[in-house]
Amino acid sequence: MPQSVLVLNGPNLNLLGSREPEIYGRETLADIAALCRDAGKRLGLAIDFRQSNSEAELVGWIQEARGKKAGILINAGALTHTSISLLDALLASELPVLEVHLSNLFRREDFRHHSYVSRAARGMICGLGSQGYVLALEAMARIVGEAPATPSKAKPKTPPKGKRTK
Ligand code: DQA
Repeated sequence: MPQSVLVLNGPNLNLLGSREPEIYGRETLADIAALCRDAGKRLGLAIDFRQSNSEAELVGWIQEARGKKAGILINAGALTHTSISLLDALLASELPVLEVHLSNLFRREDFRHHSYVSRAARGMICGLGSQGYVLALEAMARIVGEAPATPSKAKPKTPPKGKRTK
């Protein structure tokens, strides 16, 4: 049985595709879910992809994930900048958490520069659009130990004779 990763999306992310496309792009949330499922197959992870406009529902899903999921990838939308409840739920889950945002928060308004979610996250990717979800899943696969050995663990190549500098 592959390990399962909970991919959570917060308020207004259901509107992707038509919501401020100059910031968030033209891809829909269903497109991003398909990208995540494809990446999951490649990485040996089951993807449980969800979206809610309700903070309470998101907190409930995070609470249920404890002990059942291998990790949580979260784009909390605007709750990123406001929700101590989400932060507390993520900390209580005791799961590895990765934070993703489609847009580059640091090129935007000041109020988007602070993230409560980040205090619970191992790392954060922002500004790379839907690719950020895929990159975060690759990182998650390594964190939960499902990914094949990293290239850095491979034997270093010896340069051909005559080309050695020392
Ligand atoms: C977002 C950034 C948030 O500031 C915003 O409220 C969102 C989307 C992003 O993915 O870029 O809803 O999380």
